[in-house]
Amino acid sequence: MNSLADSLKRTTWNLFSGNQLTFGPGAIGTLTGVLHREKTKRVLVVSDQALVTAGIVSQAELAIQSAGTAMHVFSDGEVEPSTSTVETLVAAANEFQPDLFVALGGGSNMDLAKAAAAAFGGDGEVRALFGFDQAPQRDVKLVCIPTTAGTGSEVTHSAILKESSTGKKAAILSQRIRPDVAIVDPQLTISCPPQVTAESGIDALTHAIEAYLVRNFFSFSEDLDHGLPYEGSHPLGDMYAEKAIRLIGRNLKRVIDDPDDLAARSGMALAATLAGAAFSSCGVSLAHALEYPLGANYQCSHGVGNGIVLPGVMHFWSETRQARLAKIATFLGVEQAEKMQVPEAAQSAIQWVMTVREQIGLPTGLVAVGGKREDIPDLAAAAMSLQRLLDLSPKTPTVEDLKAILEASV
Ligand SMILES: [Fe+2]
Repeated sequence: MNSLADSLKRTTWNLFSGNQLTFGPGAIGTLTGVLHREKTKRVLVVSDQALVTAGIVSQAELAIQSAGTAMHVFSDGEVEPSTSTVETLVAAANEFQPDLFVALGGGSNMDLAKAAAAAFGGDGEVRALFGFDQAPQRDVKLVCIPTTAGTGSEVTHSAILKESSTGKKAAILSQRIRPDVAIVDPQLTISCPPQVTAESGIDALTHAIEAYLVRNFFSFSEDLDHGLPYEGSHPLGDMYAEKAIRLIGRNLKRVIDDPDDLAARSGMALAATLAGAAFSSCGVSLAHALEYPLGANYQCSHGVGNGIVLPGVMHFWSETRQARLAKIATFLGVEQAEKMQVPEAAQSAIQWVMTVREQIGLPTGLVAVGGKREDIPDLAAAAMSLQRLLDLSPKTPTVEDLKAILEASV
């Protein structure tokens, strides 16, 4: 323990980011230029069978062929990638010897590629990367191209994997796994089915809202030599989160009502990336902590789990972060929010989330995913072990608090 550091409150904050973000319809075509600039010789594409079938992988292949670069396509990506799939991908990389990875897909494919790119060149042992700041310097460049508007993984420093032996999720958190280039092409999300669109959208909203409501950076003790996995809220993170929430407020329902609306798809794609930038700097907290055991116990998707607990978490923070919640109501476009008293506006933000969650067809409670009231003590205990996420909470939760949030989310 460093007593000097412990006695100091932070006065500084950091914003880490990748080298390049390219955004806009048709952006996937700019991959050719990236490969030229990087003098890439061998590209390993990481995707999945569904995207091969949908013809999206062939769009990336076309851009890579235009650069005259050798290519290998790994199309065995899976929902919630396991450590053994990472090992299979690392073995493929060892055989092909790429100098650049292109991840194409949702958060699952991107996290798979981020983990494998980190393990490639080392001893390939992915479990050694779990936790904060365990990833070695990468030997290969990494380009991420999302096909959903949700995780923001194309700009974040995290990768979530499923431990093959236990089925439990574990995170790699390291600035060294942040992608070098994010190519965000909203056209790629047009074919995303409504269910995935809704789940991804609520995940992005959860990122933005949690990043905006987590503890302030200056409430943390200074860590002089090691840095922190998350900074707490800070001005630039607030800016990203606010813009993301505004875009989601305008566009989430629109992309469900009209999946072909490119302007709405563009709004959600930008929102997801900005929310990723916000949370991977400021942090996420209780919604994500409570979602982990939900996903593990009921096999519901990450977005569904977040959607179930988000209103309860906002309510738990509604006094501590009342002013910020009231601003969120304005950002979301709640009618007359500016004219409301602060407590009323704060409540209206929670109500907006509950209403829209239902309108876009997501489960509204634990029971809808097979949960039971008697499961709550175990779920709360499991969430209680995720200290890194709990630390970000602006109000320190007890296990009874977590149980109460889950009770309100039945
Ligand atoms: Fe998330």
